Amino acid sequence: MVENCVRILRRAGYRCLSTTDPQRALAMIESERPDLVLTDLKMPSLDGLAVLRRVHEIDASVPVVVITAFATIESAVAAIKEGAFDYLPKNFSVDQLTLVVERALRQRRLSLENRNLREQLQTVLGLENVIGRSPAMAQVFELVKKAARSEANILVLGESGTGKELIARAIHANSPRAPQAFVPVDCASLPENLLESELFGHEKGAFTGAVKTKPGLMEVASGGTLFLDEIAELSTGLQVKLLRALQERQIRRVGGTAQIDVDVRVVSATNRDLRDAVAKAQFREELYYRVNVIEIRLPPLRERAGDIRLLTHAFLKRYGRESVRACDDAALEALEAYRWPGNVRELQNVVERACALAEGDTVTRRDLPEHVLTGGVRVAATAGPAAMPAVESQLAGTTEIPLKDAKDRWMAVLEASYLKRLLERHDGNISAAAKAAGIDRKTFHRLVNKHQIRG
Ligand SMILES: Nc1ncnc2c1ncn2[C@@H]1O[C@H](COP(=O)(O)OP(=O)(O)OP(=O)(O)O)[C@@H](O)[C@H]1O
Ligand SMILES: [Mg+2]
Repeated sequence: MVENCVRILRRAGYRCLSTTDPQRALAMIESERPDLVLTDLKMPSLDGLAVLRRVHEIDASVPVVVITAFATIESAVAAIKEGAFDYLPKNFSVDQLTLVVERALRQRRLSLENRNLREQLQTVLGLENVIGRSPAMAQVFELVKKAARSEANILVLGESGTGKELIARAIHANSPRAPQAFVPVDCASLPENLLESELFGHEKGAFTGAVKTKPGLMEVASGGTLFLDEIAELSTGLQVKLLRALQERQIRRVGGTAQIDVDVRVVSATNRDLRDAVAKAQFREELYYRVNVIEIRLPPLRERAGDIRLLTHAFLKRYGRESVRACDDAALEALEAYRWPGNVRELQNVVERACALAEGDTVTRRDLPEHVLTGGVRVAATAGPAAMPAVESQLAGTTEIPLKDAKDRWMAVLEASYLKRLLERHDGNISAAAKAAGIDRKTFHRLVNKHQIRG
């Protein structure tokens, strides 16, 4: 019977895996993650109901169709009650089988789409979350709307904290692929071999620790959008593999031989000058053109000072809850005058902090950090030898606080200055700078973000 089913379904174009051992079936379900499970109810060693329960523990959206002899129609009903999608009598016809499989797969597609929609609603991702009315941002919105509708790969450029990820999500949410998954991959966060198996997946036993077959994120993103964050940090080896995958629209899992079709739309982001990286042979030119069919450049916050007021009010609403509602003119002026090297993220942090400090229902200058008020050149905004006086000026004025706190502050200033110089020496190449610092890329990246250093 198993062989018959497989033959019929293969002829109808489905990929099938089969076994007559229920325990083995569970292992296969876990590693292969099928879209549908067809199981007999009465089996030696493990009955169909137990299989049903286990499948739903692994993935509740997988439909299970049970096959049952007429004599046990009651158990079929019990199976439906337990969450089986439907049942087939043992003497089913070819049409009955293909019909129930078709229906079950349609239901699975719908429930996956629903799940994605729900996830997107929870994190509300449309363009309405991207705040900005400056001409520069209006242009960005126009481009996002047009570009999102196409299938073209998009490269989002901009300094750290300008909203690249927000835009990438908005592109997905406005694209025909919106019901399918948006899958972010941080290319800077993992060493090369781990990132490779994240992206392409691996077969069981491909390397020590690969105890299960795991589909890669490119497979997961198939039908949807793959967001390659910090794409400039991809190693040369992975650049080659990614390029091949995008050209052939197929991937091979690490340790595997089968070619698996993937249909992804790629949105990438970087705060580095990717064209320059191409010129310096740090980034493959063919990959550059493949991911950069449409380029969206996010202006730094200091070039859209008009948006500062708008953003401040939006963040006040978010962090001030009911208690803090406004920001007085003097404070707003200070916010507008500051250079915001950490862009919107920095503004968001400053407003959140001010909401916590504000005494009444209005944020005043008193609630803003010193460096914002003095227009203070933060280490991050200075360059080269000029950085030294800035460091000193930041070390000064700490005599009013306890030594322990002062030390923390000095350490932060020195760390930021060190990272900034190191990055400059390595032309903004995080991998190289991290190597020189003797720390991994992920830690380095976190520190760079913490100190809001621009690449
Ligand atoms: N235009 C905007 N409107 C509202 N919030 C914004 C806007 N731009 C950025 N933000 C907020 O600022 C923070 C940083 O944005 P995001 O993570 O998208 O920046 P990024 O460009 O990816 O930064 P990085 O290069 O450091 O990863 C987020 O919390 C985001 O919600
Ligand atoms: Mg980001």
